[in-house]
Amino acid sequence: MEDERLNSVLEKYRGVPGALIPVLQEAQDTFGYLAPETLKGIAEGLRIPFSHVYGVVTFYAQFYLKPRGKHTIKVCQGTACHVKGSARVLQAMEDHLDAEAGNCTKDMQFQLETVACLGTCFLAPAVMIDKDYYGTQTPKTVRKITRKYSKAEKENGISETGE
Ligand code: FES
Repeated sequence: MEDERLNSVLEKYRGVPGALIPVLQEAQDTFGYLAPETLKGIAEGLRIPFSHVYGVVTFYAQFYLKPRGKHTIKVCQGTACHVKGSARVLQAMEDHLDAEAGNCTKDMQFQLETVACLGTCFLAPAVMIDKDYYGTQTPKTVRKITRKYSKAEKENGISETGE
């Protein structure tokens, strides 16, 4: 099944110059991350050395070698957010999700990341979940915002939008 899906991605780009990046992107969109066997299949399919494929994947931050949670949470740790208590917000998020930054939750629902600035310093301390921004977060509010996503999943499988 997985091979069939990878083959259809590879078939689409057969003979297309510079196909590696779009193939990697589509494979990641399809499987959620790039497992070693997927990278091997891509190297063979495009007839390029595995070391080259691996080099490209590890160079770009957009590619993931490990499974990721369904919703990505970014807790800003930039200067403006730091002064307003982002370390406490991150700690509360880690405790609430039972996952350390850089990892996903056991149920694969959330991927917890830190970032240097979300570009919304006026909202410090800021958190982003998928494409939604949440400002002036506290250890109490982070529980509430993640609950929105878990609840929406249970009710209808669709994430609610941000506030
Ligand atoms: S430092 Fe946090 S949004 Fe800019």
